[in-house]
Amino acid sequence: MEAVTDVIFRHVVARAGAPDVYFTEFTNATGWDHAGDKAIGGRLLKTDDEHPIVAQIWGGDPDAMARLAIHCKTLGFDGIDINMGCPAKTAIKSGGASLIRQPELAISAIQAAKTAGLPVSVKTRLGYTSTDEWREWLPILLGQDIAALTVHLRTKKEMSRVPAHYELIPEIKLLRDTIAPQTLLIINGDIRNHTHGEQLAEAYDIDGLMIGRGVFTDPFCFRKETVACSQENTKNELLELLYFHVDLYDTYAKETGRPFETLKRFFKIYIRDFEGAGGIRNMLMNCSSTDEVRSILAKL
Ligand SMILES: Cc1cc2nc3c(=O)[nH]c(=O)nc-3n(C[C@H](O)[C@H](O)[C@H](O)COP(=O)(O)O)c2cc1C
Repeated sequence: MEAVTDVIFRHVVARAGAPDVYFTEFTNATGWDHAGDKAIGGRLLKTDDEHPIVAQIWGGDPDAMARLAIHCKTLGFDGIDINMGCPAKTAIKSGGASLIRQPELAISAIQAAKTAGLPVSVKTRLGYTSTDEWREWLPILLGQDIAALTVHLRTKKEMSRVPAHYELIPEIKLLRDTIAPQTLLIINGDIRNHTHGEQLAEAYDIDGLMIGRGVFTDPFCFRKETVACSQENTKNELLELLYFHVDLYDTYAKETGRPFETLKRFFKIYIRDFEGAGGIRNMLMNCSSTDEVRSILAKL
């Protein structure tokens, strides 16, 4: 997730309960191709122990995507994921969900990314405006011999405003089984945690589950076992994670170039569900340095 799953937060999540595969926030190929690393603000920063980790790229220029994919290989990524689902205005000008309407470009982008020699996957939505579009769109992607296909079970138009269309999973799975049994099918949308994911995997017999916003309400969402925790223990664990996050921010601030303000969007993940949490969050939101944050946390 953009401005969320950077090297810092991925390490926080790894400590809380690691997923089986990491996906980076998306990186625009054209921007990187024109202006190099300074255009992408640490989006591809990772540590050598992060495996398997897939670099997500997006764009509308296959040549630039090929060059960025090759660069990702030299950085040590394990795979390339192409975003064909982002509904943001800036993304659909030249990529993201607009590729749903440009299948030829989508095919060229996949072929270009493959030239790096890494496994290539695609993340997309059911369609642009209507849920039925998947019937034409997904066969095109499945025809490209990709390593994995992640389907965010909504259309571009639906954004994240309606419940994910789980009811379509059986038909989509049948399609995958028919066209490309070798392509892993990953489902995305409204998955809360590992237990919820397991229930879905069992009910629908799918290969993988991608959790996005679930980390905002439960940073332990990837834990394989639900640990029975008292409220006090959970509070302490969350505080410990926040300390860890703040320290990591200091470690990587220079390389990522992310200002202190960007740290503030994470406070609500850790400081919640206990008496006085709202007041503490307000104090944290008024901080202007990590030392100020630490001095507030020390009083808890
Ligand atoms: C803040 C934010 C940033 C996101 N950035 C990306 C991104 O860079 N690449 C991507 O494929 N999806 C991105 N998404 C979409 C999520 O990956 C996911 O598809 C969507 O939120 C639905 O899944 P969920 O219900 O598990 O969150 C982002 C979502 C949010 C809320």
